[in-house]
Amino acid sequence: MNNLKKTAIKQALNVDQGVEICVKGWVRSARRGKDVSFIALNDGSCIDSLQLVLSPELENYEQLSRVGTGTCLSASGLLTESPAVGQKWELRVAVAQLIGAADETYPLQKKRHSFEFLRSIAHLRPRSNSFGAVFRMRSALSFAVHKFFQERGFIYVQTPIITANDCEGAGEMFRVSTLDAANPPKLNGEIDWSEDFFGERTGLTVSGQLQGELFATAFSDIYTFGPTFRAENSNTSRHAAEFWMIEPEIAFADLSDDCQLGEDFLRYLVTYALENCQEDLDFFNQRIEKGLIDKLEALAKAEFRSITYSEAVELLLIAKQQFEFPVSWGCDLQSEHERYLTEQVFNGPVFVTDYPKDIKAFYMRVNDDQKTVAAMDLLVPRVGEIIGGSQREERLEVLQARMDECRVPQEHLQWYLDIRRWGSCPHAGFGLGFERLLMYVTGMENIRDVIPFPRTPGHAKF
Ligand code: 4AD
Ligand code: MG
Repeated sequence: MNNLKKTAIKQALNVDQGVEICVKGWVRSARRGKDVSFIALNDGSCIDSLQLVLSPELENYEQLSRVGTGTCLSASGLLTESPAVGQKWELRVAVAQLIGAADETYPLQKKRHSFEFLRSIAHLRPRSNSFGAVFRMRSALSFAVHKFFQERGFIYVQTPIITANDCEGAGEMFRVSTLDAANPPKLNGEIDWSEDFFGERTGLTVSGQLQGELFATAFSDIYTFGPTFRAENSNTSRHAAEFWMIEPEIAFADLSDDCQLGEDFLRYLVTYALENCQEDLDFFNQRIEKGLIDKLEALAKAEFRSITYSEAVELLLIAKQQFEFPVSWGCDLQSEHERYLTEQVFNGPVFVTDYPKDIKAFYMRVNDDQKTVAAMDLLVPRVGEIIGGSQREERLEVLQARMDECRVPQEHLQWYLDIRRWGSCPHAGFGLGFERLLMYVTGMENIRDVIPFPRTPGHAKF
């Protein structure tokens, strides 16, 4: 029996008939009785634990019946139909071995802990029910992201993490440098970046879009999926300094094609979760957000509404609700405005398109009215902006004029302009924040709780 290969608990719980198996995992709870002891063992393969039944005949019964929560052990025996409610199978243990002990100082004892507390033990929280479910969902949806694009013939491109340009033009980059911070080389009183590792000022990418566009004008349809960094000091529940973004870029496409792709993509991911992550979703539905599954099922069928920015402003101006930030045409929409639109007005997903050019990035295509650009944001209830995208400016002179207007130095972006010089074509794309998606699908309310090791201002410990 000791030579049995390890079976995942997920598999063990889904057998048709009692078989001999070996499982390995971590103790979630242990109950010592006079004639029998029970251990709930979890190995992360699914939310459920397998009940181990230990009888005093076991040679190391004394030791096994006293294990604490968190202990790592292996157990072999016969899977037997369980008389207990709520579980089909239990394991009658024939042999069990302690692999790694855990005593009563183990911080994740059986009681329910707050997410704040669990954040302070981010190295252990994957062993809790909630975070087990979150990170299985994260893995499943990462796979679904690739599946969606690969099924549609998109090329996956890994854009650089270290870059010399700031795509969003917002100056919120983390610096990458090997210069001596205490004593950097200077030229005319300023730091001389030409002495730095790359011979120029560099930072961590805020978006892979610009490089993605280069690939779209070679492969037609591409996507990126990678880490993205923003040094904005916004301590909100929806912003992280390091997050993952998926950025498709499609050639021969306009803003409406872009919205269609965003809609298909979100619908696909939600449907994938409904079809493949049932047990974890049941958990979220019961414990995290009541009605979550209904909401996801509704989204999978919903018609996505679309309004222009100008229409959005009209709706906000006649709103009965008081906003902290006043609204007028030309202002940037705050998250309170976005949430009002998606939650109160539409009660579902809504695209807002054609924003004033003065509040948007230089690369967005200027509309014929010369006042707005072909931009879109997709807003969803509770999360707000989940996707941001646009049709890109493919006309060289218009783009150059916009760069001057936005004070984006052209000399650094000649390579970006080159694809408008040779074989330019209409193209569009967007970015989906992977953690925002996970917040939407799991019902988790804080972005720190859907990324394994969150980076936010003041926090990079684990
Ligand atoms: O709207 P953003 O800034 O758009 C871009 O970066 C474009 N270059 C995308 C493109 O067109 N290829 O960011 C896109 C999405 C947002 O809608 C949001 O979901 C997410 O990325 N996001 C963040 N997620 C977590 N923490 C942050 N600090 C985020 N900033 C943006
Ligand atoms: Mg945005």
